[in-house]
Amino acid sequence: MDKLTIRDFDPNGKRVFVRVDFNVPLEDGKVTDDSRIRAALPTIRYLMQHGARVVLASHLGRPDGRVVEALRLRPVAARLSALLGRTVPVTGDALGPGTQDAVRRLRPGEVLLLENLRFHPEEEKNDPQFAKALAAYADVYVNDAFGTAHRAHASTVGIAQLLPAYAGLLMEREITMLSRLLENPERPFAAVLGGAKVSDKIKVLDNLLDKVDTLVVGGGMANTFLLAQGKPVGKSKAEHDRVEDARRLIAKAEEKGVRLVLPTDVVVAKEVTRGAEYKTVPVEKVPASWSIVDVGKASQAAFEAALADARTVFWNGPLGVFEIPSFSHGTKAMARFLADRAKAGVTVVVGGGDSVAAIDQLGLAEAFTHISTGGGASLEFLEARELPGVAVLLDRPKEES
Ligand code: 3PG
Repeated sequence: MDKLTIRDFDPNGKRVFVRVDFNVPLEDGKVTDDSRIRAALPTIRYLMQHGARVVLASHLGRPDGRVVEALRLRPVAARLSALLGRTVPVTGDALGPGTQDAVRRLRPGEVLLLENLRFHPEEEKNDPQFAKALAAYADVYVNDAFGTAHRAHASTVGIAQLLPAYAGLLMEREITMLSRLLENPERPFAAVLGGAKVSDKIKVLDNLLDKVDTLVVGGGMANTFLLAQGKPVGKSKAEHDRVEDARRLIAKAEEKGVRLVLPTDVVVAKEVTRGAEYKTVPVEKVPASWSIVDVGKASQAAFEAALADARTVFWNGPLGVFEIPSFSHGTKAMARFLADRAKAGVTVVVGGGDSVAAIDQLGLAEAFTHISTGGGASLEFLEARELPGVAVLLDRPKEES
């Protein structure tokens, strides 16, 4: 990686501001998925062990610049404390004299978590005064929040322009793993893209078509491709204004010699709800008043056949309405198949989001080469865009990189 990391400075005795992405799901005041917290532990532990005074900061949800009680970071601090085996206090506000005092009193090896940064509207506006107030807490800035690196906010960009700015160990791992896909993937290289909308993924599809040998498309976004091929999609969610884009991507795949694999059969349901009537039909026969909710068994077999020889696979997005158990089979089958491929030595990298939820439910996370903590960020990275939170970190001098 061409950025300096926490291994490139001596943290001993320094106050280090660490931007983490602790934007985790909560239910009844408890963290329901702590993978983003666990992913930040190597950086936090390294800094503690090297005598730093660690000031952690994160956003949680989208409170739109107001204090939202349900989005306080207390449950996150509780989970982090349990994982570290020591209490991590959380301040009542990211700013203010009480917080300044708590930062001042930090001793080497101690950790403090600031309250949700997005309670202040200045955070998302990348307000210079807000960035300055955050920078005043520390001597050094570390960004370990890969999941938020596509946002140009005060805690990801503004502050990094005021302090020496280094990458954390998670940031380093994410960039290294995702760069490998773009720069030097072992071939054949395949991508599996699902999720609801083509519009979210047009740019990544475009860029990946320049890189991959095989592209498998499922989930709601496949419906727009089916429409582009003149197939009926019934009442399914499809982006009629994106059919032209889908046609262009199909033509690009042909021109580049990329094998584009779309569903051949699908599960359709009368309503997209639990308990609704459903059946499997060929894609040519989707009834007018039914909706596509999953890929069928023949599609699964075709997807697996197309991926069988791949040496590198990137997967992002579920292949059906995964939240409803009857419509989650395609996504779960893909998770099992790719876990087996990874165990057989294939590099399998998973972008964040619902595909990760499927993998976690099946207890397969350990099998994969890398599961990104960034949803939007990993897609923007694969669009070959420079992420603002990465661009602003210190470059490694040329002769070292
Ligand atoms: C995420 O969950 O993708 C990141 O934490 C960024 O959150 P945001 O989309 O609200 O900026």
